[in-house]
Amino acid sequence: MIELIGKTTRIVPRSGGPLAQDDMDRARQTPGNERIIMSDLELVRAAIAARENSYSPYSNFAVGAALLCADGTVYGGCNIENAAYSPGNCAERTAFFRAIFDGRRDFTAIAIVGGPAGEPISELCAPCGVCRQVMREFCDPATFRILLGTSADEFVESTLEELLPYGFGPENLGR
Ligand code: THU
Repeated sequence: MIELIGKTTRIVPRSGGPLAQDDMDRARQTPGNERIIMSDLELVRAAIAARENSYSPYSNFAVGAALLCADGTVYGGCNIENAAYSPGNCAERTAFFRAIFDGRRDFTAIAIVGGPAGEPISELCAPCGVCRQVMREFCDPATFRILLGTSADEFVESTLEELLPYGFGPENLGR
């Protein structure tokens, strides 16, 4: 079943399992949804795979992110905690910093999943304010899409501008 709720797209399998073939077929017949079904869901699944690498012994809250570049390259990231707490890094920034080090600047979307370690995803995990600001440095707020997975087959979508309105960015400093 595909629900369009304002600007938010939810793809919800009826059974709780993978999307049924008729769901996929209906989605493809809905103008504009081909991309959502085929690559956005794959991006959410890449974030779920990235979450497997989470190092989160202090919070036991495991987060994964998958950052999509314009050419289709995906950079995974996980949260990395530390005994001294403050050096810890979020999954989103791990993905961004890996990509930036590779010279990438052409980001189109990020999928994020998180929840208690060792458990399947059941609730959405929204990016923290610091991560939103890092996205603001490298992404167009009006077009960069943030997919928050609520399961392997369900996500909600926002733009960066929706999650960080009136943001401060490089152009404020003439860059
Ligand atoms: N965390 C992320 O990696 N991304 C988020 O969007 C929210 C929070 C991490 C930080 C910390 O390791 C753990 O989740 C609990 O806050």
